[in-house]
Amino acid sequence: MASEATAEWSMGGDIQDLTREDYELFRRLVYAKSGINLGDGKMQLVRARLGKKIREGNFKSFRNYYRHVESDPSGESLCELLDAISTNTTHLFREIRHFNLLRTLVTQWVEDRAWRSRNSTLRLWSAACSSGEEPHSIAMVVHDVLSRHHGIDFKLLATDLSTRMLSRAKIGLYDIHRVGTVPAELRNKYFRKVVDDGQSMLQIIPELRKHITFSHFNLMTPTFPFKQGFHVVFCRNVMIYFDNPFRAELLQRLYDALVPGGVLFVGEGETLHLVPHAFETHPRAGAVVYRRPLKE
Ligand SMILES: C[S@@+](CC[C@H](N)C(=O)[O-])C[C@H]1O[C@@H](n2cnc3c(N)ncnc32)[C@H](O)[C@@H]1O
Repeated sequence: MASEATAEWSMGGDIQDLTREDYELFRRLVYAKSGINLGDGKMQLVRARLGKKIREGNFKSFRNYYRHVESDPSGESLCELLDAISTNTTHLFREIRHFNLLRTLVTQWVEDRAWRSRNSTLRLWSAACSSGEEPHSIAMVVHDVLSRHHGIDFKLLATDLSTRMLSRAKIGLYDIHRVGTVPAELRNKYFRKVVDDGQSMLQIIPELRKHITFSHFNLMTPTFPFKQGFHVVFCRNVMIYFDNPFRAELLQRLYDALVPGGVLFVGEGETLHLVPHAFETHPRAGAVVYRRPLKE
């Protein structure tokens, strides 16, 4: 298979190649605006991913394109640049252990009388939701549990930096071969067959989609605007792109966004032992689920 660089980028005759100085400018801009730390070694990635934009926009050089992004007051060009740089890989029920744990935790809460007397709505947040696979997986599990325990509703906020990914996520449309990781019972319950552009597809049913609000949100936002705390936050496979100082800041904001006793899921490869934080590890779940202590 052709590498990403060769597939996406062949230098047009009169386009000036990316220089080390250009790379530094993009690296600093991306870091300042998204927290994504490209480091020293991603020159080829930047060349490949931005090359397409440069050709499409008929820019003469990377520097030219950089200036265009910098001087666009609408912020739209910046948004597109960050879209091109960020990695959006995801799939339904990615790291399935998390969804089994989620099922256990939610079941414990809704079966606990004291918890029920304090809460009528479960609030969850998928904080880097990409094209929607993560929030759709969360929603299937939570809806399935709550359909057996009446009287508790749920609301799921799903946010990402990428507006391109969010527009896909909102539709909830999947190729049939992409739903293979969904447990069969949930697949039968939460997808319906639709024909899109003459092609047979599966779509998340409206009954599930109505619980999810998709919205653009940058995790770099210094003060999170949420009025009510979340019971569950998924912030998975995004901190990997950030450096430790920003991870520590973000963890504090996520901590503050949770209710006491609320839990944070991070990606399997993202244990937080190198970063200072106030969470405790969840006694049953080990190092992928962190909990804001009930009493501080
Ligand atoms: C690899 S995907 C992870 C998707 C999903 N959480 C999962 O684990 O499958 C990383 C996502 O983080 C988003 N992202 C990167 N920087 C971000 C930021 N500063 N604020 C919000 N989202 C960001 C990207 O747009 C991308 O969709």
